[in-house]
Amino acid sequence: MINIAPSMLAADPLNIGRDIQKIVSAGADVLHIDIMDAHLVPNLSYGPAMVKAIRKGFPSCILDVHLMMDNPANYVKAFITSGADELTIHAEINENIPRIIGEIHSLGAKAGISIKPKTKVSEIEKYINDVELILIMSVEPGFGGQKMMPDCLLKLRQLRDMGYTGTLSVDGGINAENAKMAVQHGANRLVMGTALFNSQDPAKIIADIRAL
Ligand code: DX5
Ligand code: ZN
Repeated sequence: MINIAPSMLAADPLNIGRDIQKIVSAGADVLHIDIMDAHLVPNLSYGPAMVKAIRKGFPSCILDVHLMMDNPANYVKAFITSGADELTIHAEINENIPRIIGEIHSLGAKAGISIKPKTKVSEIEKYINDVELILIMSVEPGFGGQKMMPDCLLKLRQLRDMGYTGTLSVDGGINAENAKMAVQHGANRLVMGTALFNSQDPAKIIADIRAL
């Protein structure tokens, strides 16, 4: 089944609980929470307190936490104890990635690795047997509402051809029109911010994608 993972960045910050409820009622099963540190990406968002609040409000949703941070190692424990089910770190950081993946697992969460549009799949080939999730960025991370870069979708197919069978997620500019192309390339999770939160009928978008 295709997971639909709404990105909280596109929710109204003043009414985030209300907006999440709307999108969960529309059928979303995974909540994608973008953590930005203003170093790895040129923006700031929120920290473990937001994850904790969402965990409390939505106990049965899977919390997919995307750590766009240069030094995620210092925060792994805080995010997992706050309720993250899955923690994804970036391949572009200068840290000991296998050690962080090991720590995520030892704390009982699933581990993911993500690459920005300019990073090649070959950079993460060595991790494909160690992670439960790979997140392909299809925009330069930092902001919602950008246009999907179609070339990035080729990386999904490359990973499937390498034998990766885990969750393969694509993040950035995914909408009702290009979702099918992403799935055909091998994605089984679609992160969608603007396209879902700005829609009058998110339930239809989700149902149509599930029917692909
Ligand atoms: C970008 C984030 C994405 C983004 C998705 O830095 O990682 O999750 O907010 O939002 P849309 O779907 O609006 O591109
Ligand atoms: Zn994201």
